[in-house]
Amino acid sequence: MSVAGKRVLLIIGGGIAAYKSLELIREISRRGGAVRCILTKAGAEFVTPLSVGSLSGDTVYSDLFSLTDEAAMGHIELSRSADLVVAAPATADLMAKMAQGLANDLATTALLATDKRILIAPAMNVRMWEHPATRRNLATLRTDGVSVVGPDEGEMACGEYGFGRMAEPKSIADAIDALLAPGPALLALGNNTSTRQGIASMGPLAGKSVLVTSGPTLEPIDPVRFLSNRSSGKQGHALAASAAQLGATVTLVSGPVALPDPPGVTTIHVETAQEMLAAVETALPADLAIFCAAVADWRVAGESSQKLKKSAAAPPTLSLVQNPDILATIARLKAGRPQLVVGFAAETENVIEYARDKLRRKGCDLIIANDVGSGTGVMGGDENAVHIVSPDSVVSLPRLPKTEIANRLIRLFTDRLVKGPSA
Ligand code: CTP
Repeated sequence: MSVAGKRVLLIIGGGIAAYKSLELIREISRRGGAVRCILTKAGAEFVTPLSVGSLSGDTVYSDLFSLTDEAAMGHIELSRSADLVVAAPATADLMAKMAQGLANDLATTALLATDKRILIAPAMNVRMWEHPATRRNLATLRTDGVSVVGPDEGEMACGEYGFGRMAEPKSIADAIDALLAPGPALLALGNNTSTRQGIASMGPLAGKSVLVTSGPTLEPIDPVRFLSNRSSGKQGHALAASAAQLGATVTLVSGPVALPDPPGVTTIHVETAQEMLAAVETALPADLAIFCAAVADWRVAGESSQKLKKSAAAPPTLSLVQNPDILATIARLKAGRPQLVVGFAAETENVIEYARDKLRRKGCDLIIANDVGSGTGVMGGDENAVHIVSPDSVVSLPRLPKTEIANRLIRLFTDRLVKGPSA
């Protein structure tokens, strides 16, 4: 275990998930690590200093202005004496303070003063997690090099369902192990100086950059109406998450979806196909580019700046213009083309034949074809069955959860990156 013999500074924020932090202390100790804890004022409403101290076997720190605490260990030394700083649960409030660089209590001061890497395990109500303010704070923290584990999806203490449950102690301990694992890729994961993210910088994709597009695009008709499609983004997001787990530096360019940003992935949110192309071009260079987004083929010519009124004599006629083909644009780059360019083909008939045609037309290396016809439940569903179409072969995967399809595809792409087209 990489945490064995290492010291973790655990900051316990004020959330109901604080009780799981007690189990996290046990798990780190079981793996041979030492834990020193800072319990925030709100955290102390959920777990007592006595239980935290008994499990960690150390003083529990909580007060920035305590002369006794400062005498035992100054707050700067406290923040630097550890090999890794972990905030679990990281509440919406704690994340907001971290993103702003506030330092108005011992926890936030230690987080700002540390020269070590930081891992956060967010925990909050699903609406708070999905709130644009939290999304902004999360993006800022990721850009600052903070690693994130979870949150998980499930039933919450407040009775609602969704993403926001703190990751299980074992998963957090796994993330700690990954961050403390020795290896050259980890050296690049500086806390304040690097924008590299992710809990897994070891793995077969360490040192590789991966670009993924996901979700639908949304093409405005007027300020309130738009053209779009039924893509959920589940497959593209799962691919990005899977590549990050194998150690890649991943940029995900996503259209509007109802999914959280995958942990350890830089996610750029766009709406239109033109914005998606611009974001993709900015994100290059990449070793592997996977175009999984369901890009709207057309946009409305002359989008109305005012809401169209139905009072006019006849319904409006929409005139459409073709959107740029993002996959074909990147696959045909003369300079800076990613080593492996993968497209998807959503078809409702002649799946393999159309996929082969797309492979030729778009100039990519592989097409992942799937049948999205009515009754398949693929569009928006949790399962997929795909055919991996190359110029000279077709390999089919059975119907599986999209996460498992993602894992298998990423392993195959990894082999191709390393061994070339014969893999
Ligand atoms: N794609 C893209 N930009 C577009 C259209 C599609 O990058 N403007 C990409 C998709 O992300 C996918 C692949 O091209 O990887 C195939 O998408 P699909 O919608 O199936 O193909 P189309 O080009 O729309 O072809 P057709 O309408 O003939 O099915």
